Amino acid sequence: MTNQIMTTYSDGEIDTNHSANPTLESLIQQRYSRRSTLFGGASAIAAAVFGGSLLAACGEDNEAPVVSAGANANSSSGRTVTLAGTAADDKAVANVAWTQTSGPSVTLAGANTNNATFLAPSVSAATPLGFRFTATDDKGKVTTADTTVTINPAQLGFAAVAKNKLDVVTVPSGYTVQVVTKLGDPIAAGVAAYANDGTDSNFAQRIGDQGDALYWYGLNASGARDDNSSTRGLMVQNHENILEQYMHPAGPTNVASGPRPESEALKEIEAHGVSVVEFAEGANRQWSYVQDSAFNRRITPNTPMDFHGPVRGAAYLQTAFSPAGTAGRGTVNNCANGHTLWGTNITCEENWAFYFRRDNSGAGTDNAARTARELTALRRYGVTSNIGNFAWSTTTPADPANTMFRRWDARATGASATDDFRNEPNHFGWCVEFDPYDKTLAPRKRTTLGRLGHEGAWLGKLTPGKKIAVYTGDDARGEYFYKFVSNAVWDAADASRTDRLAVGDKYLDAGVLYVAKFNADGSGTWLPLVFGQVPDRPAIGADPAYVFADQADILVNTRLAADAVGATKMDRPEWTATNNVTGEIYLTLTNNNATLRPLTGTDAANPRHYNDPKGASNQFGNPNGHILRLKETGDDPAATGFAWDIYLFGADSAQADPNNVNLSGLTADNDFSSPDGIWFARPQNASGLVNPVVWIQTDDGAFTDVTNCMMLAAIPGTIGDGGAKTITNTGSGGATSTQATLVGAAATAASLRRFLVGPLECEITGVDTTPDGRTMFVGIQHPGEGGTPAAPSSHWPDSQATGSAGATVRPRSALIVITKDDGGVVGL
Ligand code: FEO
Ligand code: CA
Ligand code: CA
Repeated sequence: MTNQIMTTYSDGEIDTNHSANPTLESLIQQRYSRRSTLFGGASAIAAAVFGGSLLAACGEDNEAPVVSAGANANSSSGRTVTLAGTAADDKAVANVAWTQTSGPSVTLAGANTNNATFLAPSVSAATPLGFRFTATDDKGKVTTADTTVTINPAQLGFAAVAKNKLDVVTVPSGYTVQVVTKLGDPIAAGVAAYANDGTDSNFAQRIGDQGDALYWYGLNASGARDDNSSTRGLMVQNHENILEQYMHPAGPTNVASGPRPESEALKEIEAHGVSVVEFAEGANRQWSYVQDSAFNRRITPNTPMDFHGPVRGAAYLQTAFSPAGTAGRGTVNNCANGHTLWGTNITCEENWAFYFRRDNSGAGTDNAARTARELTALRRYGVTSNIGNFAWSTTTPADPANTMFRRWDARATGASATDDFRNEPNHFGWCVEFDPYDKTLAPRKRTTLGRLGHEGAWLGKLTPGKKIAVYTGDDARGEYFYKFVSNAVWDAADASRTDRLAVGDKYLDAGVLYVAKFNADGSGTWLPLVFGQVPDRPAIGADPAYVFADQADILVNTRLAADAVGATKMDRPEWTATNNVTGEIYLTLTNNNATLRPLTGTDAANPRHYNDPKGASNQFGNPNGHILRLKETGDDPAATGFAWDIYLFGADSAQADPNNVNLSGLTADNDFSSPDGIWFARPQNASGLVNPVVWIQTDDGAFTDVTNCMMLAAIPGTIGDGGAKTITNTGSGGATSTQATLVGAAATAASLRRFLVGPLECEITGVDTTPDGRTMFVGIQHPGEGGTPAAPSSHWPDSQATGSAGATVRPRSALIVITKDDGGVVGL
């Protein structure tokens, strides 16, 4: 009889009661009141109230447990779901267990406790998951209860962070920030901790400055490549530049004109480049790096490199260091990057031109020693400094044979190109592939991808049997957007080869480089930069027409070739990102100004010209930038045509004209300026599947009267989800002009939210997660960039805990880890 009651009870009334989660007390009352009816009479009620001895008198000495599995519930992909069971017994509950009864399989944590948890799986439509809670008492009596959790597709799951100008990294409630690697941290055994007072040296064994793009390369427990590892891996991060004022005790010596002390110049050089550092997750989700890991590596401007592709061995690369034009030293101003499915990293050389001395004007000018062709190329790339960033070439080394400093002097001073470093600028501006898992292999400069101010080199979606496309922006106002298409077609077996750089040779040393032309109707054309198809670059100003000599010439002087074919000048092409579901490519266009793109200089793809006041100052042009997206014709990476629209426009939501400037309908919760970093979540977890989350980072100077730079999370739609629009632009003095363009769907609170605001004077750049999406890595670059050693203008990361630190504590670029406190996927 009792069993019959329990069966009815557990399988019937509770399981079908979807209205609310009853309290245990009410369950007990309900049960014993029913029992009283069945047994009949007041004595049974007394038995229930007064306990076992009276129950025994009724012929029963043990009741089965009373359980609840909780009410049915809803959640969404990537979130941590807690199953809350309750069990009570007249004597003792011996054990409880949660099991899954239906739906996509999940891993239950704490399955033998009342509160089990699981990570909601990725689903494309509402999907019920059934669970059973079983309690067994000390006599072996068992009761079960079921519940259903319906999982919805992934959605953003945090409260937007308010704009602010604090000296901390602000993240949503429910998230935690950890600082893992900071400028100067030692990455080899025996290297001293960073003093951060300007006395440190040996940056070839420390974390470099101004951490930029980053990427996680997983390792398994035995130290082998494992693309699915989320607890141990190699963090690869670019180190774009330096804040030289903080690198020396009282700032740099003679940085404006030299001579530079050797020790100072060496530190500054070695603080550039790339770092490869082992990271590990410890107990309680605490992340740290492994100082003495055998994998740790610094790639600096002094690291030996090999040239690959059509320019290898060409006269353009001949120097006193490499008369054959096949080898080079190092990489500099590494900004965005790329990763390949075969496990390598592509680091990209962006603003390299300004590091070289040319003596472009006045006495001692290099111009007289150069040909008209050389001068056209040097001017087009901006290799025009009279001293070069940080004046490294003015250093006289202790060892006269050391050309580490002289190489930054690009004047033609010798009898020929192999007697000096006139061609050293041609050694930079490349995409550089290296193997993070093997530090013995020299990086390879992939000349097939052209020479420009490479922002990054992001691969499109790879499809077996199709060619590989690599997208790369040239980050300067009025520069172009490029695509490289391999000759080889993708063989998925290459993803797991161990000769990773040889795989890179296969795909990245032979192919065609294209540059984008955006048409007013939302179509676009990839124009091939192939010798024989590229016309002469017409005379411009003092520069005569440039006649290309061969394919190496086109790849060394890619900007001239893109000029010649009529590519579309863009508003600073920055990072690219690939939506692995739709195959669409996103491109950030950081900003432009009225000087370089006047009111009359708009086009459909760069459509806005307006003023965004900053305090009392006017900022005309496109000060807040936009994000464009494109889709290849037929989803073919090798297509020569594409469709495009503008996904999102930056704007100050409080000031911008909603009809002509704030075209994406931004609000206080998601307004931003100057998008730079952009990255789609990995397709290995719920944030990168179905409707992938795209993360947007800013490098802003226009909106900084209101807020520090930031990172936003978005779930975008697809090309064509908005429509055509004609906007009215306004220039300085009130002149107006109209421009037709293609605007994506407006942002909503559900589709775009501010996730993070950085500390003072920083840029947010570099983002990746572990494959499971539960640990996010973000780069905080150059906090306090405007300060001095005596008065730093930020004290981050020392300020992270309390918002402030000692008045002379120097700021440090650093890499942070962000985790969600409940263990869920970051952002969802
Ligand atoms: Fe290094 Fe284009 O930012
Ligand atoms: Ca019992
Ligand atoms: Ca403003």
